[in-house]
Amino acid sequence: MLIKRPKGTQDLIPSQIHKWKTVEGIVSQTAEQFGFKEIRTPVFEDTSLYVRSVGDTSDVVTKEMYTVSSKGDDSFTLRPEGTAGVIRAMLENGIMNEGFPQKVYYVIPCYRHEKPQAGRYREFRQFGVEMVGSASPYADAEIILLAASVLDGCGLDNVELHLNSIGCPECRSNYRDALKRYFEPHRSELCQTCNERLDKNPMRLLDCKSPICKNIAKDAPIITDYLCDDCREHFEKLQKILDGYEIKYALDPKIVRGLDYYTRTVFEFISNDIGAQGTVCGGGRYDGLIGELGGQSAPALGFGMGLERLILTMEAAGCEFEEPKTPDLYIAPMGERAQEKSALLCDAVRRAGYAAEFDIIGRGLKPQMRYADKIGAKFVVVLGDNELDSGEAKLKNMRTGAETPVVLEDFLTVFSSALINEVFENGLGDEIADAVTESLGGEE
Ligand code: HAM
Repeated sequence: MLIKRPKGTQDLIPSQIHKWKTVEGIVSQTAEQFGFKEIRTPVFEDTSLYVRSVGDTSDVVTKEMYTVSSKGDDSFTLRPEGTAGVIRAMLENGIMNEGFPQKVYYVIPCYRHEKPQAGRYREFRQFGVEMVGSASPYADAEIILLAASVLDGCGLDNVELHLNSIGCPECRSNYRDALKRYFEPHRSELCQTCNERLDKNPMRLLDCKSPICKNIAKDAPIITDYLCDDCREHFEKLQKILDGYEIKYALDPKIVRGLDYYTRTVFEFISNDIGAQGTVCGGGRYDGLIGELGGQSAPALGFGMGLERLILTMEAAGCEFEEPKTPDLYIAPMGERAQEKSALLCDAVRRAGYAAEFDIIGRGLKPQMRYADKIGAKFVVVLGDNELDSGEAKLKNMRTGAETPVVLEDFLTVFSSALINEVFENGLGDEIADAVTESLGGEE
C-alpha cells in the first residue's frame, strides 16, 4: 500500500510551483523595497521559547505545538510561527547592537496541530516581517503599507484591513477587570476552555469560536474604551497616517489576535473569497516581548502572511501567476551517433546560459516531438545521420513552425539570434514597451 502524506500537509508539485515562485518573488521583492533583509532561523527551537513568547494561554502553545523530546531532558518544538525564533536570533547574534531600526523578513514553513480544513493546514508557509527599534506610529503604518503593497502586487484589491489597538499592559489591566465583571455572571454558560480563560486571560474569550460564547461576547466591553492617553494618541496618529496613504481600513475592536505578545496596534487582512479561514495576514506591535525574552527592552512590530491563503485568494480572484519557464531548445537525436552529438551540443547551449534538453530515452521522432511540445520547447532541432554527415540541420520555431537552416558549427550563433527574435516577437517586446510606457507615466 502507498504511504500517504501526513494529514494537514501538502505537496507542492511541479505543475503548481510557478504559483509559489510568483508569490515568493513578490513578497521578497516588496520587503527589500522597504529595506528589509532576509533572515533564516532553525525550524525547531527550545520549547520554552514559545511558552515564554507566544504565551501559555494561547491555543498555539496549549493545544497546537509539535513538541519532541530528544536525548536527555531537552524539549524542542517545530516552529508554530516566526516571530519568537527571529527575535531570539536577533538577540543571540547581537543584531540589535548594530543600531535601530532593524528590519528582517522571512519565508518559512510553520507547524500547528490544528484541525485541517480549507485554508488551514498543519504545515503551512508564512511570509513574515519584523521591525525592531521604533515606537513611532509611522513604523506601524510602514508595516501595514508593506502588507498592503504585497497584496496589491499580487493583484488583490478586495482584501479588507481590520485595525484595532489592544493598548499597553496598564490599559489592558483595567480592561481585563471590566471583561471579568462582564463575563462572570455568564460563567456557567461559557464553554470549559472559556471558564479557564476567564481566570487566566479573559481577552482570549473574545476569540472563542463556540456560538454560545460568541453570542455572550457580542456585547462585551471594547478595549478602545479603556486605552490610556498615550495608547489612544498612538492609535489616532496611526489612523491619520493611513488616511494620508489612502489605505482603507475598518476599526474592529474584536481583533485581539491569538498570540499573547501583542501590545497596542493589531491588525488583520481578511479575504471574503476563501471561506471561514479568510485571514490572509495578521500582525501588530509587541513592545514587551524583547524584554521578556531577556533582551534590553525595545519596541517592535511585524506581521505574518499565510502563503497558502494568499494563493487561494489569488486563485479565487483570477489573478495571474508568472508563466512557468519553458526550455529554449529541445534536441531530438535519431540514433546513437546523433545522441552523442546531441549531448555535447546541449552542454554547449547550456554553458551559453540557455535552457536545453535532449532525448535520453532513445525514443522515435514522433514521441520526441510530442514531448518537446508538452514541455513547451521554443525551438527544436532534429539530428540524424544525414544532418551529421552534411553538418547542417534545421532549427524549428515551435510557435510559428518556421524552419531556419543551420550549419552545426555555427549552431550557437544562429540559435541565439533566432531566440532573441522569437522572444521579441512573442511577448517580451510588448512587456518592455509596456514597462517603458509605464515608467514615463503614460497610458498603454
Ligand atoms: P498568526 O495570526 O498566528 O500570526 O499567523 C499569521 C498568518 O499565518 C495568518 O493570518 C494566516 O494567514 C497564516 N496561518 C496561521 N495558521 C495557519 C494554518 N494553520 N494554516 C494556514 N495558514 C495559517 C503569527 O504567526 C505572528 N507571528 C505574526 C506576527 C509577526 N506578528 C508580529 N510579527
